[in-house]
Amino acid sequence: MRPRPLRLLLVGGARPNFMKIAPLLRAFRARPARFEARLVHTGQHYDAAMSDIFFAELGLPEPDIHLSAGSATHAVQTARIMRAFEKVLQAERPDWVIVVGDVNSTVACSLVAAKMTPPVPVAHVEAGLRSRDRTMPEEINRVVTDALSDLLFTTSADAGRNLRAEGIDRRRIHFVGNLMIDTLRRHLRSADGAGVMRRLGIAQPYGLLTLHRPSNVDDPDALRRIFVALEEVSKDLPIIFPVHPRTVKMLRTAVLADPGARNGSAVRHIQPLGYLDFLQLQKRAALVLTDSGGIQEEASILGVPCLTLRDNTERPVTITHGTNRLVGTDPARIVAAARQVLRRRPRRRRTIPLWDGRAAARIVEVFSRLEPEAR
Ligand code: UD1
Repeated sequence: MRPRPLRLLLVGGARPNFMKIAPLLRAFRARPARFEARLVHTGQHYDAAMSDIFFAELGLPEPDIHLSAGSATHAVQTARIMRAFEKVLQAERPDWVIVVGDVNSTVACSLVAAKMTPPVPVAHVEAGLRSRDRTMPEEINRVVTDALSDLLFTTSADAGRNLRAEGIDRRRIHFVGNLMIDTLRRHLRSADGAGVMRRLGIAQPYGLLTLHRPSNVDDPDALRRIFVALEEVSKDLPIIFPVHPRTVKMLRTAVLADPGARNGSAVRHIQPLGYLDFLQLQKRAALVLTDSGGIQEEASILGVPCLTLRDNTERPVTITHGTNRLVGTDPARIVAAARQVLRRRPRRRRTIPLWDGRAAARIVEVFSRLEPEAR
């Protein structure tokens, strides 16, 4: 008798999840006899610009289940997702829950699955990344999710080492590459046709900035320091800044309240962009400045110099093998690093082991060796 398909629930909730879910869901659904994959959207991100546009551009189907969790404090947001997801698991009884990345949706759904009776096994994609900075909410989410996971898919060798050092059985760890880069490679060509530069009249050369980490934007002093540096850098290179909703409010009080701040500034604030527009801007930028995790990875593969406005990174492979450099938030250091890049500008495309566009295929291969348990 043929075994029934393995029932999988894939969870996505926040903007950076959708680029990781898209290739994986597509790969599972390409094998309907083996897998029945359903998509849960937690609703952690809900705006058209933070969610809907990514579904449309990445070819993601409508979620099968939507939890409508919305924004709140960490405890309330995590709890809302957990309460709603518990009901989903009671109704669906999947064979596996698959979570990606390190956002609150990731940890919330892992925790619920692990505490079901009987437990629903959890697979974590992008496991083992460690900034070793516990003030970063994502670091807590990573450590807890990995501790609860039965299968751990890693993007880099260092992540595997971190997990083994934490006592995780090496048979549960699979080095598969990077789903974010599967998506990047798939859309690189169509990003050339994106309309953003024409629409907004952006000319090369320019720098591209993103900023949304609480440690940078929720602390007015840190945010002001960063902007002192950015104003200086923008004298040599105009900067395009798609502003994350979290950052908008803080900018108003910390930076734009200063009457001198915007006079003659070449830091151009724009609305958050969709995937293809952002990819085009990133690909053509002379320099990327960011505090995001995924953008350190994308810039490395695009061969665009990346200055990370943080003191640590959970993605050291982007420094050793990519184009990334940590510059913190000290204005003098940021300006010096930017000037150095602009003088030299190495635009080589880098190779990072297994970041070849085949991560989803490797994950599906691991799952294809699993049999459904009798439930
Ligand atoms: C979350 C993730 C972070 C990820 C980022 C990408 C956690 C702890 N953080 O941070 O790891 O890098 O997403 O964007 O999970 N908001 C909107 N519209 C939306 C969503 C949010 O306006 O669709 C605003 C709300 O004011 C909200 C704020 O943004 O309070 C922050 O959203 P939240 O999901 O709490 O965290 P992010 O900063 O987006």
